[in-house]
Amino acid sequence: MKIVFATNNAHKLDEIRQILGPQFEIVSLKDIGCHVDIPETGDTLEENARQKAQYVFIHYGLDCFADDTGLEVEALGGAPGVHSARYAEGTDHDSRANMAKLLREMEGRENRGARFRTVISLLCHDASNPSQPREYRFEGIVNGRIGTAPQGEGGFGYDPVFIPEDHNESFAQLGEAIKNTISHRARAVRKLAEHLRQGQR
Ligand code: IMP
Repeated sequence: MKIVFATNNAHKLDEIRQILGPQFEIVSLKDIGCHVDIPETGDTLEENARQKAQYVFIHYGLDCFADDTGLEVEALGGAPGVHSARYAEGTDHDSRANMAKLLREMEGRENRGARFRTVISLLCHDASNPSQPREYRFEGIVNGRIGTAPQGEGGFGYDPVFIPEDHNESFAQLGEAIKNTISHRARAVRKLAEHLRQGQR
């Protein structure tokens, strides 16, 4: 079964191919000749994930899934959330600047609770309604807290300041092997995998 993952992130592709195994052929945007930076203009993770999958479904006529992730901090009313990649003003995917802003916003706050949330939107052809895809949504959450300073060299994004529950080290310190068993993305991907496997039975 061939299915498009609306990403060009090699790490995410690897992760999902490993979880799904060889019976699914997961192809990237590059693999289908899509070189567009698909806009993510939604107000929620759900909207953004759907928007990316929909672009491929409409322009390429292929079943497709896409993901979007946000760090949701309790004391900040769920921010940075859908704006996680561009939290620090005037930047884009600048992890240092984003973490610096987050730590400034968290100064003096007692409640440091936070979670990473990933949403995956899968759009499939629907035989009973060929013009409209059928959407399936999968969510993965990991609860934790925001540390008082970045710790660890591994990972990416907010990993050095996020300490998952039941651990005393940040995602960046715990390393990829542990992170990949408990992470928001892994949890969402496992739900997607289960859904796809059921369709195969
Ligand atoms: P994306 O939807 O996967 O592109 O994630 C949006 C932003 O959330 C990224 O730019 C990162 O700042 C942050 N992010 C997503 N996943 C992770 C993670 O596993 N660790 C740390 N930060 C993450």
